[in-house]
Amino acid sequence: MGKKLYIKTYGCQMNEYDSQKTLEILRQDPSIEETKNPNEADIILLNTCSIREKAEEKVYSELGRLNKLKKINPQLKIGVGGCVATQEGKNIYKRAPFVDLIFGPQTIHKVPSLIKEENKINAVDVSFPIEEKFDSLPKPDATGVSSFVSIMEGCSKYCSFCVVPYTRGDEVSRKPEQIFDEVARLVEQGVSEIVFVGQNVNAYKFTLNGRIIGLSDLIEVCGSIHGVERIRYTTSHPLEMTDDLIDTYGHVPQLVSHLHLPVQSGSNEILTKMKRNYTREEYIEIIKKLRKVRPNIKISSDFIVGFPNESDYDFQLTMDLINEIEFDASFSFIYSARPGTPASQLEDSIPLQQKKERLYILQKRIDELQLSYSNELVQTIQRCLVTGVSKKDIKQLQARTECNRVVNFDFQNIDILGKLVDINITKAYQRSLAGQILELGRT
Ligand code: SAH
Ligand code: F3S
Repeated sequence: MGKKLYIKTYGCQMNEYDSQKTLEILRQDPSIEETKNPNEADIILLNTCSIREKAEEKVYSELGRLNKLKKINPQLKIGVGGCVATQEGKNIYKRAPFVDLIFGPQTIHKVPSLIKEENKINAVDVSFPIEEKFDSLPKPDATGVSSFVSIMEGCSKYCSFCVVPYTRGDEVSRKPEQIFDEVARLVEQGVSEIVFVGQNVNAYKFTLNGRIIGLSDLIEVCGSIHGVERIRYTTSHPLEMTDDLIDTYGHVPQLVSHLHLPVQSGSNEILTKMKRNYTREEYIEIIKKLRKVRPNIKISSDFIVGFPNESDYDFQLTMDLINEIEFDASFSFIYSARPGTPASQLEDSIPLQQKKERLYILQKRIDELQLSYSNELVQTIQRCLVTGVSKKDIKQLQARTECNRVVNFDFQNIDILGKLVDINITKAYQRSLAGQILELGRT
């Protein structure tokens, strides 16, 4: 009889990618199939995230619930993967002895053998064999018109607040031939948007025949593959936003006019304490250069509010930067001290209530900027990629503009899935747009 596999994913796009790959790895065994219902699963894997506070507690309380399922079905295998697994290692067995296997973000390819381990102590592997992981990833199995392709793993920036370098290891770039092989296969399967993913994709570096290949080279080659209509990448770091990469916006039309470039803070003092290694002025300069090459490019960012002893003035500098750049969207969070990071040693006298207020002010302003740009799009024609059926109304399709906004529209023909179409935007909402499709064939 077949085994049913349920994977629960927390956190970032890298984790989503890893979960998809774990599924593909396990499905190489034809007796294993995916289920969306944990109650009927024979194998449950949690792909955890430890970027912010309370991550470990969330995992342990989820494990408590899963233990109840195990009492009903003692054959159930429970695995913990991802960054909490790296951080906690076999300590997980102490608080949750019913867990069967523990693996890290870089050992997902070992899950099939870890599941078979009888001895639990041998069923732990949270090491960083990143090249080995890349070499053993199965051929991709596309599930939509847009697909992630991992080009590098890990991070060597060691920002003072962040656990990623400790949980995912240092930066390792994947071989270009592996990347293009994956892109080509995805395109054959009907994918038309490629999203290069990694903790710091613009740190990509691979030496081939004495020449250094960077992210800009990957984008250029990818843009020349027939069938690739759009290219995105995430996440990138301001420090490696090279002129080369900026120039790519001038000659690769498939590269979208949207960039997620985390700035974290607008105060140089805080940026120094965060160990980001750039200044507010340098960040502004990068955006200016980008806008010279692509005047309509939209910029989104990550922000941390309430870094230890962030003053009102520091926060005001962040708000000024938001108004100057006119950020289009953000992932913004209140700082949380993460175990083992240098920032966790810093004293902090700012009350939580004040941090919450700052976060509210910041998010409200970015929402306003986002809506005002959405309103500007009304009565314009936008080139959009059709991504699927609308989540709100099955009689509508969903597409995405270059600046990553969702557009819902009526359709006559489902064959346009995965294609670029021109849509006249008719209405703007906070999180989406409505539109009418124009005649096809204008590519
Ligand atoms: N590679 C990305 C960051 C990946 S982590 C970069 O270039 O910055 C994703 C985001 O989580 C970070 O950008 C940061 O805004 C947030 N984050 C990381 N550690 C955090 C912490 N200790 N507290 C609050 N937010 C944090
Ligand atoms: Fe984290 Fe900074 Fe790297 S935020 S992922 S250490 S760039």
